[in-house]
Amino acid sequence: MARTIPEETISRIKNAANIVDIISDSVALKKSGLNYLGLCPFHTEKTPSFTVSPDKQIFYCFGCHTGGNVFSFIMQHEGLAFPEAVRALGKKYGIEIPDERMTPGQKRHYSEREKLFRVNELAMSFFRESFHKGATGQRAKAYLVGRGMTQKIIDEHQLGYAPNRWDGLLRYMGQKRVPLEVLAKSGLIIPRKNNSGYYDRFRDRIIFPIFDLNRQVVGFGGRVMGDDMPKYLNSPETPLYNKRRSLYGIQEAKQEARKTSVIYLVEGYFDALAMHLYGIRNTVATLGTALTVEHVQLIKGLVGPSGYAILVYDSDQAGINAAKRSISIFEQGMLDARILVLPEGYDPDDFLKEQGPESFLKVSKKALGMVPFLIDSAIERHGLSVEGKVKVVAALKDALAAIEDTIARALYIKKLAERLDIDETAIMDHVRQAMQRTDPRGTKDHADRFRPHDSGSRMEQQIVAMMLRYPVMIPEIVGRNILDYFEDNQLKTIGQMIINQAREEEHSVADLVSLIENHKYRNLLAKLAMGEQHWDRQGCERLLDQFATRHRKQLKNDLQRQIEAAEKNKDMDLLLKLLAQKQNQAVKN
Ligand code: CTP
Ligand code: MN
Repeated sequence: MARTIPEETISRIKNAANIVDIISDSVALKKSGLNYLGLCPFHTEKTPSFTVSPDKQIFYCFGCHTGGNVFSFIMQHEGLAFPEAVRALGKKYGIEIPDERMTPGQKRHYSEREKLFRVNELAMSFFRESFHKGATGQRAKAYLVGRGMTQKIIDEHQLGYAPNRWDGLLRYMGQKRVPLEVLAKSGLIIPRKNNSGYYDRFRDRIIFPIFDLNRQVVGFGGRVMGDDMPKYLNSPETPLYNKRRSLYGIQEAKQEARKTSVIYLVEGYFDALAMHLYGIRNTVATLGTALTVEHVQLIKGLVGPSGYAILVYDSDQAGINAAKRSISIFEQGMLDARILVLPEGYDPDDFLKEQGPESFLKVSKKALGMVPFLIDSAIERHGLSVEGKVKVVAALKDALAAIEDTIARALYIKKLAERLDIDETAIMDHVRQAMQRTDPRGTKDHADRFRPHDSGSRMEQQIVAMMLRYPVMIPEIVGRNILDYFEDNQLKTIGQMIINQAREEEHSVADLVSLIENHKYRNLLAKLAMGEQHWDRQGCERLLDQFATRHRKQLKNDLQRQIEAAEKNKDMDLLLKLLAQKQNQAVKN
């Protein structure tokens, strides 16, 4: 790949960026020895094997074997190409990137997301201006104040107003010289049916900008102030907005969620805003969609391996059904969750307004685990008559079957048996049937997918690790031609790269990672550079001696075998040549 950003700029950005800070934005990291540990964002896991090294400025996951430097992290995590990742980091650290060296095609590609972010930012300004202007702006403000919002919350969440016209935003964007096709891609305007131009998507609505973790506007939601339909309208899917991955309020919630390792999940914009208003800032809302595994991953990155989510659902049947669906999503995402049931007829917004935050926190202390919640609600619904009990078991068997932890499953079955006063084995039979019916996404399958790849002899690996972590040995490794004896070609290539790199003035593992474009090599390199084994010269010498001896022995054995074969075949020419070699070897040793 031709690099169009000057090396010097890349290296300035790399020096400015701290990998621990960057990764901490999306992964909860805990210090562990020299490194930091967290849950891997690239595969689903329950115990942390994702390692970040601040002194080497690299990361490596011992579970799925993904590794690299700060650029590779951004590339893989955000799905960006290398120059886009450099740009994103440059922007974050205020380092300007000259772009004369890009071809027009590249410019177009890299800047699409950038342009859309700019359009969204402009649109937000427009909605904010309209909110502060005229009688209609007053009406919007009155609506929000009527719903208990303060100026502080309105400003913090940048709430705005879309005026009641077909071309309010269109004209504004025209003045700002935003090309129509970019505006159309943002989803803020809609093409007219007869192919003659566009009109504003959001008209006469309260506007909720939707941010990502980095406080960039990815999309918008809009609510009518009266009884028009639909009550809420959201941005369509765009290159920036994906509702399966967006959580309203995350930019404000992330700090508190990290601090407390808990996050509240609510269903509506106003529920999230009310929670923030009353100081329960670790709250986000899903946006007109059921909870997804992507949401769960995002949340896990904030609350960490010992954290959990508290789902706040209504106690009505729809709420209970939503809770049931999310139980398997949390299972799949391997995140603990509890469920908070508010009194009949309340959503968090109403509850907070009427009862205050203290009552809310009191109720939230009683939040149940998912399964106990489902057991309670099923018993409440069906009662404890004979038919009721049959229905309760039928209602719960799928949820119980979805629990992957066999001990947890057994304990819940026991609990349910006690509550219903029936035999455990009867429930077990139902659960087993449910398990056979469900998709056999066995755990074995998971394990297979992440089996460590075979990366050559242990000794060769150790030598490469030594080169990375105790580079004073490199001259000796070169002098003794150690790499020539390597059997694993991957390791040999990496070793050669390290040697070449060591000749350069400034060298670090993170620099080396940048040079490696093959992801297999990069992952292996990161793995070998990680770890905290102590190296000293004596240990290194011993390893190199052992390796050389082993190699000589192997050569000797190989030669002996060839000699025997030549004897057997009576190939005198070859035999003589081999014997000469043998003599040569004996002299060398
Ligand atoms: N929602 C949506 N589109 C709709 C209705 C709802 O995207 N047509 C989403 C919104 O995120 C909304 C949430 O689902 O906030 C919950 O909707 P609902 O319970 O109908 O409304 P409330 O949040 O109670 O809204 P409000 O209090 O403003 O009436
Ligand atoms: Mn409401």
